[in-house]
Amino acid sequence: MAGRIPQHFIDDLLARVNIIDVLDGRVQKLKRTGKNYSGLCPFHKEKTPSFTANQEKQFYYCFGCGAGGNALGFLMEYENLNFPEAVEELAKSAGMDVPKDDSPQQREKDQRLSKLYDLLSQSDQFYQEQLRSSEHRGDAVNYLKARGLTGQIAKAFGIGFAPSGWDNLLNHLGQSADQRNLLEEAGLLIHNEERDSRYDRFRNRIMFPIRDQRGRTIGFGGRVLGDDKPKYLNSPETPTFHKSRELYGLYEARKHNNKLDRLIIVEGYMDVVGLAQYGIHYAVATLGTATTAQHLERLFKLVPEVIFCFDGDSAGREAALRALKTTLPVIEDGKEARFLFLPEGEDPDSLVRQEGAEAFSERLSSSLPLSEFFFKSYSENADLDSMDGRARFSTEVLPAINSMKPSLLQQMMLDRICDLTHLSLEQIQTTVNFHQAVQPQTSSSTNASAPAADSNDNSPGYYDDYQPAEPDYPDYAVDFYESADAQPSNRPSYTNKKQGFSRRSGGNAPRNTELNFSQKLIALLLHYPQLAHEFQLPDGLEQSLDADLKILSQLVVYYKQHPKASLGQLVVDWREDEQLSNTIVSLYEISTSLEIHSEADAREYLTDAQTSLNRKALESEISTLQKKHSLSQEEKLLLVQKMQQLHQVKTTSKA
Ligand code: GTP
Ligand code: MN
Repeated sequence: MAGRIPQHFIDDLLARVNIIDVLDGRVQKLKRTGKNYSGLCPFHKEKTPSFTANQEKQFYYCFGCGAGGNALGFLMEYENLNFPEAVEELAKSAGMDVPKDDSPQQREKDQRLSKLYDLLSQSDQFYQEQLRSSEHRGDAVNYLKARGLTGQIAKAFGIGFAPSGWDNLLNHLGQSADQRNLLEEAGLLIHNEERDSRYDRFRNRIMFPIRDQRGRTIGFGGRVLGDDKPKYLNSPETPTFHKSRELYGLYEARKHNNKLDRLIIVEGYMDVVGLAQYGIHYAVATLGTATTAQHLERLFKLVPEVIFCFDGDSAGREAALRALKTTLPVIEDGKEARFLFLPEGEDPDSLVRQEGAEAFSERLSSSLPLSEFFFKSYSENADLDSMDGRARFSTEVLPAINSMKPSLLQQMMLDRICDLTHLSLEQIQTTVNFHQAVQPQTSSSTNASAPAADSNDNSPGYYDDYQPAEPDYPDYAVDFYESADAQPSNRPSYTNKKQGFSRRSGGNAPRNTELNFSQKLIALLLHYPQLAHEFQLPDGLEQSLDADLKILSQLVVYYKQHPKASLGQLVVDWREDEQLSNTIVSLYEISTSLEIHSEADAREYLTDAQTSLNRKALESEISTLQKKHSLSQEEKLLLVQKMQQLHQVKTTSKA
């Protein structure tokens, strides 16, 4: 394989190929709809098309799962390829040759890597063969039988056996010094410096090959047959094996079902295998480390739902809390994380054997959503009856919420904090903003994965870093504590905002054929000026070319400042603009001949209108960007962001 591929080649390649050709045959029901193409998204399960591709811009985007990118990104995702491989594949289809970095160093590096994969594959075969034919296989077979493993499942996971002895693999594959060096580099032999000799790392163990997403064996886990220590031995980090990225069982899960809708993260190899034997083919295990942000990002690319599975003991709860903190910065709308706690002393393997797949699935279904687990663990020891306790609780949870990407989930969690603390969203928000101002922090995966990757990190939480130590922030502390009790009356505006989340459109909207959309809004506002302060129009509406929309936005601004103004007052205030005043009066008159709407109906109508205005604004911004000839990196990012926002608005209004 080539080394670094020159950027100009990638640019040429992308200019030469047509993404639609790449999608053709890979995206079902791909067809042209106006300027775009649409089809069934191959990255998540769906019945109606939400996958779109734009030929002009040469990219794709799925409104259902948020996947998006160019032709190379699509190939990487769809065919499980890494970048150079995707370039290779795409170039082949375009009849182009990828220029190779032919430096001797690069060639040697490539060759070495491919030899490592080769040796790992041969070792894998060796271990599996030993389970079938070695003279000491009896113990291993008996052990696996005793644990209830069928031959079929052992085969599916490529389970093997490393017989006892120091040099079985060494003798089988280490013919030359070079081979022995490579076997050591692959983590299969250990070098004894004193004697300058090498010996097998895995001896007298059941072998679990660890495969990458493409099915190549990249390392092993080995379990003792008895009670010796260590119980499990894993391959060390090698050029092919990176524990913080890889997950045991992911390849097998995807091989079983290419369109998974959920994955479970369990602790051990045997849990993955045991669950699969009972028909639950969607469990993966980390490799003796805590779950990292990288793991989660990988999983959430594949499925919308990830369920963590933990022992019911205190170690399990601590691990769960760590997982929670790793998940917060990663989670996005449309993705869900859940937490399952097993009865003490059980693990998924023992439990599924005991109670069967159905009961286990029921446990999965009733697992705790992230937000519930979050509040359960954070409020457990909080005293929410006292002002101090509520304030302390808020300062504890805010940094955690703050680490999240802006999302509906984040909003709803803030919502919940308001309920629990009797603080308004504004008050909470001020503290959050304050945090961001004083403690600029990234929620990037690397940041979040670093502490989480260390499974020995038993500190109560690495958010400790973000929490303002009181002496450094005296003003903040005073403000916050005072506000905790001082202004409970600020709550209504927050509560109203909340209603927007669950609003269903239609229903009680006023029926009127004479007024257009924005005129209806104006009329309703004229009747209920007090609703103006709940109305958040998209930016830039005041510059709208639509005269009615322009009036609407002026009206909202005016009523926000003068919530009690009568129509007469308004007309006086606006007398300078005679046309405006007249329009307003006639709209008011027309609207009085309509059926009378209750304030609640008016509010509902306005809220729906607000959603649709926001949606229109987003759509127009998106289309403006899409019409541009070339987009800068920032604009592309903005485009994807806007699309995601639009997706959010759409899902919210459907909810
Ligand atoms: P079984 O006893 O075979 O059912 O394994 P288990 O998965 O129930 O064991 P346990 O809960 O003790 O371990 C869970 C996971 O932690 C294992 O699958 C390993 O990945 C890892 N692990 C357990 N023990 C060791 C050990 O001694 N060393 C290392 N490196 N990892 C271990
Ligand atoms: Mn177990």
